[in-house]
Amino acid sequence: MIKSFVTDGQGIDNLAPAEKPEPPALSDNDVLIEVKAVSLNYRDLLVAKGLYGGAYDPPIIACSDMSGTVLETGSNVTNLKPGDKVINSSFHTWLSGKMNSEKIRKFVGGLGVDGVLVEKFLYPAPALVKMPEYMSFEEGSTLTIAGLTAWAAVMTHGKVQPGEWLLVHGTGGVSIFAAQIAINAGAKVIMTTSNETKGKLVKEKLGIKHIINYKNEDWPGQVREITDGAGVDVVVDIAGGETLARSIKACNYSARIGVIGILDDTSSKFKLFDVITKQISLRGIFMESTEELNALARFCEKHQLPPWIDKLFQFDKTIEAYKYLESQKHIGKIVIGL
Ligand SMILES: NC(=O)c1ccc[n+]([C@@H]2O[C@H](COP(=O)([O-])OP(=O)(O)OC[C@H]3O[C@@H](n4cnc5c(N)ncnc54)[C@H](OP(=O)(O)O)[C@@H]3O)[C@@H](O)[C@H]2O)c1
Repeated sequence: MIKSFVTDGQGIDNLAPAEKPEPPALSDNDVLIEVKAVSLNYRDLLVAKGLYGGAYDPPIIACSDMSGTVLETGSNVTNLKPGDKVINSSFHTWLSGKMNSEKIRKFVGGLGVDGVLVEKFLYPAPALVKMPEYMSFEEGSTLTIAGLTAWAAVMTHGKVQPGEWLLVHGTGGVSIFAAQIAINAGAKVIMTTSNETKGKLVKEKLGIKHIINYKNEDWPGQVREITDGAGVDVVVDIAGGETLARSIKACNYSARIGVIGILDDTSSKFKLFDVITKQISLRGIFMESTEELNALARFCEKHQLPPWIDKLFQFDKTIEAYKYLESQKHIGKIVIGL
């Protein structure tokens, strides 16, 4: 038997360790992985609370993002070998191109699909990517959702250019990655936060000069001042609601907004006139394909980008890790070691 942590979607306190049988025999295209680290995302809170696909009976294995070592490969697998260090794509059939109604159902760690907080599991080889060589397993585990979502908003769809302004909200997992990717791509970053201490830490560690407080409702005015009246070119909007409306006010002509999250509200009222006259593009982001995850991993290697891990929890402290994530006291990522 092997160890796992499961969720029934009925609350964080219902998360529980569970013994599972060893994975079944390998099929030709699968890889057997020994999981080394798992990182948490805001989505894991929603899954555990039944707000993402409802309750699960029987419970499902929790979490979607891992790093691990290849133990065995199926007979058709040519891109990986035992001993390779890998990370997983959370949609295991979205390999490249556009999302569709088939691919969206295969999102691990939610929607009734078992996740990755388990000692060993089988995964389709095409949905695995080689972990950046220089990263620890803990760091590698943070790329699957947070890193990839940031990548999709900043690079794949935001297409940020050197010298452009990028605005990002908060200091959570997606936002810290977005700022790091943008800086390495040569953009100038403005970050918002509600927490002065976090703002100071981010300034020191990432060298972001412009950090403003999103609780001050006139923050779009501050963005305009910082950008000499022009506004920003790319926005990574993890909040929705009134924040999205204000993000639009803070935009330059031809700006690209990645609409990612709903921490402020699930609906938003903004002036279409601003979107039309400034020719702003709003793009919904729902992570990206394995091909883009690989592009992110190679970008990280090129720039030696260090994922920001706030805290590492041991496997038996999984519930504490979820509660710490819920408290929003963290900066960047929270990781569970196996
Ligand atoms: N669409 C996708 O593909 C995708 C992928 C990943 C995440 N998401 C979504 O993106 C959001 C962030 O996810 P995450 O995993 O990065 O979360 P996280 O690590 O828990 O980040 C939370 C941080 O967001 C900031 N925040 C909270 N409320 C805010 C608000 N009203 N306005 C601005 N910032 C606010 C806070 O930063 P400060 O303490 O600095 O204020 C907070 O600490 C969630 O809604 C999540 O569901 C979407």
